Amino acid sequence: MAPVCPAPSGERYERLPDYAKPAHYVLRLEPDFESFTFKGRAEIDVEILKPTTKLKLHAKALNIGAIALHLANGQEFRDLQHTYSDTAQVVEITLPVEIAPQKTKLSIDYIGVHNDHMQGFYRSKYTADGKDHWMFSTQFETTYARQAFPCWDEPVFKATYDVTLVVDDGLTALSNAMEKSSTVEGKKRIVKFDTSPLMSSYLVAFAVGKFEYLEGKTPKGTLVRIYTVPGKKEFGHFALEVSTKALDWYGDWFGIPYMMPKCDLIAIPDYSMGAMENWGLITFREIALLFDPAKTSTKQKTYVALVIAHELAHLWFGDLVTMKWWTDLWLKEGFASFMEYLFVGYNYPEMKIWLHFLNDELSSGFDLDSLKNSHPIEVPIENPNELDEIYDSITYAKSNSINRMLCFYLGEEKFKQGLRNYLQKFKYANAETKDLWAALSEASGQDVAALMSGWTSQMGFPVVSVNQLTQENGKRVLAFEQKRFLADGSEDRAASLWKVPITLSRSGQPDEPFHRFVLSEKRQEETVTIPDLEWLKVNQGTTGFYRVRYDEHLLHPLVTATGNSQLPVLDRFGLGNDLFALLFANQVTVDQALSFLEMSRNETEYAVWRSLDMGIARLGGMVDYADEDGSLKKRFDRYLIDTLRNTADRLGWTYTDGEDSQVGLLRGLIIGRICRAGDEKYNAKALELFHKYIDSNVPLHADLRGPVFGAAIRAGGDKEFQLLRSHYETCGFPEVERTALVALGQTCAKSGRLETLFDYAITQGKVRTQDLHSLFMGPACTRSGQQWVWDYFKKNLNQLTEKYGGVQTMLFQRCFKFAAEEACSEAVAKEVDEFFCGKVDPSSLKTLDRPIKQVSERIRNNVKLLKEAGPQLDAYLKSKGY
Ligand code: BES
Ligand code: ZN
Repeated sequence: MAPVCPAPSGERYERLPDYAKPAHYVLRLEPDFESFTFKGRAEIDVEILKPTTKLKLHAKALNIGAIALHLANGQEFRDLQHTYSDTAQVVEITLPVEIAPQKTKLSIDYIGVHNDHMQGFYRSKYTADGKDHWMFSTQFETTYARQAFPCWDEPVFKATYDVTLVVDDGLTALSNAMEKSSTVEGKKRIVKFDTSPLMSSYLVAFAVGKFEYLEGKTPKGTLVRIYTVPGKKEFGHFALEVSTKALDWYGDWFGIPYMMPKCDLIAIPDYSMGAMENWGLITFREIALLFDPAKTSTKQKTYVALVIAHELAHLWFGDLVTMKWWTDLWLKEGFASFMEYLFVGYNYPEMKIWLHFLNDELSSGFDLDSLKNSHPIEVPIENPNELDEIYDSITYAKSNSINRMLCFYLGEEKFKQGLRNYLQKFKYANAETKDLWAALSEASGQDVAALMSGWTSQMGFPVVSVNQLTQENGKRVLAFEQKRFLADGSEDRAASLWKVPITLSRSGQPDEPFHRFVLSEKRQEETVTIPDLEWLKVNQGTTGFYRVRYDEHLLHPLVTATGNSQLPVLDRFGLGNDLFALLFANQVTVDQALSFLEMSRNETEYAVWRSLDMGIARLGGMVDYADEDGSLKKRFDRYLIDTLRNTADRLGWTYTDGEDSQVGLLRGLIIGRICRAGDEKYNAKALELFHKYIDSNVPLHADLRGPVFGAAIRAGGDKEFQLLRSHYETCGFPEVERTALVALGQTCAKSGRLETLFDYAITQGKVRTQDLHSLFMGPACTRSGQQWVWDYFKKNLNQLTEKYGGVQTMLFQRCFKFAAEEACSEAVAKEVDEFFCGKVDPSSLKTLDRPIKQVSERIRNNVKLLKEAGPQLDAYLKSKGY
């Protein structure tokens, strides 16, 4: 493959030295809304552990003033000299004499900036009463606390914090701990907070602005508040309900009650990610916290519950027990992700959350981890400034999925007991992956490290091939063989092996395994007892993080059992999801995968359809490149319309009271797909509903908003485009805004409207930076859109880098992926490999190295797929009369 530009040599990154550590910070910050700067003073209790003539700590974008050091004997050094390294983001303070081990106090005066890059102590804009207003809040993970105060900004340096915020009178000031006192001096209010628990710097938080809140108490007495900017608190009721429930529920489940008297959850107008687990002051993107019964879609309501549950789980997993270093980031992210499902599963059964798990976690983990350029869960991290790209589907979705696998393997009780042991042992301290395995082994009596380390220390996951060797009198001999599953179907050069917990179910006992074993070797034979006429399913309940490939003899009855829904839903999902992945890896034929699709015509479950729909979308993306006149695409679309028509007609357009929310989700999904495939009747209806909604305010169900907006923009012209853009400007609700942006991006790439849209959003700054990536999603759905958006990306690299504050940021990388990864052309893959060389500085390029390789690998996989599956699809459609 074409080489990516030469790896930059760069300086080696160094962690802070171990001769000194902080014990306690007294911070005083005075934000200024006029200058967007803040005056700061940090007094830090620093313990000198080894004799030293200097002190090193982190800072970035701070203007450092006076520095002083008090020794234990009362001696004081003032006006200490310092040097600063911008690349290391380290201040080095020179001490006049060598200081022996002792407790000292370091004080530093400085000035910082309230930037608009959504990191550090940054500014957000909101409108109220027709005017623009500002508020300030923080985002410190991973390495941004140093932009707010000089500190030992690595997770292992836990300390306590006394925070004082000096703010304009009339504003609210919040921090992790409870307010201790508030006094007015002239026009300023001085707000002091209680001492925080012992914690890592990335968890410190402040918020200052005009806020309103809803308040509640958990049954066990924790004060919970939902804060918003003015005018939005009424959207906080659902969040209040979820969070008051979850705090006590987790306290019970973990066997450790929540550790603080209060927990605030605040919705921030400008926010880079979804949410952040600052201890006692959790911050959220508005769309991830606020809920409007009339406007929030089913999917989004579920997401709000999950995000809250995720962040609250972090209060134990992450805040109380923290990873020693970022290599073990999964220790908090993977577990918060698993706990969010566990909580929602138990407390909101109507959300059917474990069905959503399959597509949103399992399948998304598989997707990234089947690339050659994936990475292990435990990923070596040298420089944490290059870490943003690791917050990906490996750290989240794969970790989450292997936790689910382990929970099923050990049983929930033992799993829980192991986690409790781990939390007890490492509370207010730091841990590594091996510590977790030890705690789980202790609780279960099994060697968990031996089972699990293969899953966290090597990348990828296996596909298990199953062949039936003999069948006689209720006994079958099966051969199991594992090898790494790669998206392009190629062989794994590393010859990786896993310990794969295999479970088997059969028609007579479909809902729990009748046989289990661990596949440790490359190939193993297993004799099982099963009546001769029964089907046999491997990976019962799709709980294992592996794919299964059956021989024809085993597959056929499973496909039939799918058609008549004898196979349980989790297994139908697994079978279909594996089949399409195997198709894309050229290991099953188009014929086999599409027969399965046709067999699923009467499928009623959203989760199964959603997975099939992803398969359809990938095939659809590929056929777009099959020929210049789009004839294969047109034939495929006609085939899809015929295949989906019955399901769509059965679901109809109308939501009935008391209907299962999964049905509503399925309706949106199928209508969305049939409209995309060009069904005239459905597109006409979508356009009609769009106009009724926009022109006459006729309500449109939130689950149909995406499909209807999208169809109207694709089928409509200038008029619909203008109408939706005005709606974007006036609707005043974040989820509606996002749906509008995604739909606007689907406008015809040749109409000139994409130029207008991107200019409006990016150059004129009419769309918040936090939302810009949504624009890139629309064009990514068609060949002409892809060509347009990749061109745009190339021409506007500087503008985008500036907006986001660097190519290492997560949001920039999302744009890059949307702009390129759906393409299906070797020329684009090569451009992706080479594009950034010389255009971004070498150290930033390093942070893009893996994302670049992943994107070009995906593009090449698309090219390969077209070559292999294109002719097969053509022949299949012909054979069916299309
Ligand atoms: N700790 C993360 C937030 C974060 C992400 C900080 C990346 C720094 C870099 C937080 O707990 C989180 O995981 N948020 C997710 C939402 C969650 C439901 C998966 C997010 O922001 O998308
Ligand atoms: Zn998290």
